[in-house]
Amino acid sequence: MRTNMASKFLSVVGSKLLKSTPSALNWTSMRRNGSTKAGTWFRTRPKLLAFGALAGTAGLLLYALDASVEASDDCVHPPKQNWDHNGLLSALDMEGVRRGYKVYKEVCASCHSLQYIAYRNLVDVCMTEAEAKAEAEAITVKDGPDEQGNYFERPGKLSDYMPAAYDNEEAARAANNGAYPPDLSYIVAARKGGEDYIFALLTGYCEPPAGFALREGLYYNPYFSGGAIAMGQLIDNEVVTYDDAEIAPTSSQIAKDVVTFLKWTSEPDGDQRKRLLVKVVMISAFLVGISYYIKRFKWSSLKSRKIMFVPEINEQSKSNGEGKNCPK
Ligand code: HEC
Repeated sequence: MRTNMASKFLSVVGSKLLKSTPSALNWTSMRRNGSTKAGTWFRTRPKLLAFGALAGTAGLLLYALDASVEASDDCVHPPKQNWDHNGLLSALDMEGVRRGYKVYKEVCASCHSLQYIAYRNLVDVCMTEAEAKAEAEAITVKDGPDEQGNYFERPGKLSDYMPAAYDNEEAARAANNGAYPPDLSYIVAARKGGEDYIFALLTGYCEPPAGFALREGLYYNPYFSGGAIAMGQLIDNEVVTYDDAEIAPTSSQIAKDVVTFLKWTSEPDGDQRKRLLVKVVMISAFLVGISYYIKRFKWSSLKSRKIMFVPEINEQSKSNGEGKNCPK
C-alpha cells in the first residue's frame, strides 16, 4: 500500500524519471561506474606517480647540471647582498637612485651609454620636472635638418635620451683597448647575479694571484669571467661628492647607489608592477573565494541528484501479472 502511494505521489509530481537521492546511498553503484572522486584517484594514481617521479628526476638532473657548470666557472661567485628593494613588498630607494644617477653621470657616462633612458624618465622618480629639465639642458644634442637642410646643435630637452659616450662601437673599442663598454640600461637584468654581480665587480678589484699573466691594459677582477677586465677600478672613496652630508661617499656606498640606479634603469616600472601584483592578488583571492562558494551553492542540488527510471508497479498489477501503468 505504501509503495502504491509513493508511486502515485511521484506521478503527481509529474516526473517519473527524476528522483533526488542522497549521494551517500549511491556510493556503491557510483563506485562501480568509476565516477566517484576516489575511484578516479585510484585509476589515475599510477599515472600521477609516474609523472611525479619523471618530473623529480628531470629537476634533479637540471640542478646537478647547473651545479657542475657553476663549479667549473672561471670566476668567483658574487656574495649575496641585502638589497633594500628585494622582496615583493619593498620599493626602490629613490634617494639612492638619485645619488646613483649622479655617480653614473660623473663616473660611468664617459665610457658607457644609457640609450634607453630619457630625461623625462627621471621626472617624479628621483627628481622634479624642473631639475630634470636642467639636467637635459646641460647637454648638447645634434638635431636637424632645419628648413635650409642643415644639421644644428641645440640644448637637450626632456624627451632626449642620455647622450652616448662614443659615436659608434668602433670608436668605443678604439678608446678602450679593443674592449667595448656595454650599454648599461639593462645591465642588471642582463648579467647573472644581477645587482650582486655588478656591486662585486665594481668593488672587487685586487692584485692578481702569483703566476696570473695579465695582458697590458687589462686589470685583475676575480668576479669577471676569466679574471682580466678592460675596465679599471673607477670607484673609490670620494670619487663623487654627495649633496647630502649625512651620506659618506665611501666606495661601497657609491657602488651601492650606482647599482640601485642601474636596477631602476633595467626595470623602471618594477615598483608599479609590485603594487599591481598586490592588488591583483587581493582582488583575485576575493573573487576566487566567492566564485568557489557560488559554484558549491549552485551545484549542490545538481551534484546530489540522481536520475533514474522508476516504473510504476502497483500491488494489483503485481498480483495479476499485468502492468497497469506500464509505459506505452
Ligand atoms: C674608462 C671607461 C669606463 C668607465 C668610466 C666605466 N667603464 Fe665599465 N666598462 C668599460 C669597458 C671597456 C668594459 C668592457 C670590459 C671587458 O669586456 O673587458 C666595461 C664593462 C662594464 C660592465 C660589464 C661587465 C661584464 O660583465 O661584461 C659593467 C657592469 C660596467 N662596466 C659598469 C660600469 C659602471 C657602473 C661604471 C661607473 C661607475 C663604469 N662601468 C665605468 C669601461 C668603462
